[in-house]
Amino acid sequence: MLIVLLGPPGAGKGTQAERIVNDHNLAYISTGDILRTAVKEDTPLGSKAREYMDQGQLVPDHLVVEIVRERLQEPDCSKGALLDGFPRTVDQAIFLDQMLPDISQKVDQVLLINVDEEELVERLTGRRVCSDCGANYHVKYNPPAVRNVCDQCGGDLYQRDDDSLETVKERLEVYKKQTEPLVKFYQDKGIISYIDGNKNIGEVFDQINSALNSL
Ligand code: AP5
Repeated sequence: MLIVLLGPPGAGKGTQAERIVNDHNLAYISTGDILRTAVKEDTPLGSKAREYMDQGQLVPDHLVVEIVRERLQEPDCSKGALLDGFPRTVDQAIFLDQMLPDISQKVDQVLLINVDEEELVERLTGRRVCSDCGANYHVKYNPPAVRNVCDQCGGDLYQRDDDSLETVKERLEVYKKQTEPLVKFYQDKGIISYIDGNKNIGEVFDQINSALNSL
């Protein structure tokens, strides 16, 4: 089973992904996480990706598709995978469709999480992430028990560089121009489920579970 999580920055894709992969026993592929690790470790990929990410722009397709091609061939993906943040352009989606038959997979369902724009800005500028385990928090909606300390591993929480107000606005524009066309692409294939991401985290997960259990 291959599931794609689609939605604007801050829609809650990462938050829901953690729950989905646990409940449905799927491998997790987040291109954003893979790119951030490459930036942190200052690999050749990271040094190319950094300038785009810092400006809220998409990393060029040819770099991202190679990451996904390699990741999908790892053994844990044979049980199925959840793709978070990929594809993000129609060209990436076409690439995915072309490579999946090689590993006997197809995109089974696309979960489109939509959230009002004002709420997206509030969620992103208030997000905090654990520097050790990557767990996600929000200063208001999902705070840790102790301020700036991860509940799961005790690591320090930090604000992502691309969560400044200016970069968040740019990311939302990039989503509208480059990623929204994917909605029609998957609508035409009849595999989109619409999730109202304005609800609380548990209610959003309930909608996702209903969609996945109807597969
Ligand atoms: P990526 O890391 O994929 O970022 P994104 O898509 O912009 O999404 P976010 O991680 O910001 O948000 P999310 O939807 O996961 O929300 P979250 O669950 O954290 O990509 C980063 C960059 O990498 C891109 O800009 C690009 O440069 C590059 N990149 C990545 N993939 C690429 C690709 N395929 N092609 C090219 N470039 C690529 O939630 C946000 C906050 O809200 C959290 O604080 C959370 O606690 C809170 N929250 C979540 N759900 C709720 C809720 N229901 N109610 C209240 N609060 C909530």
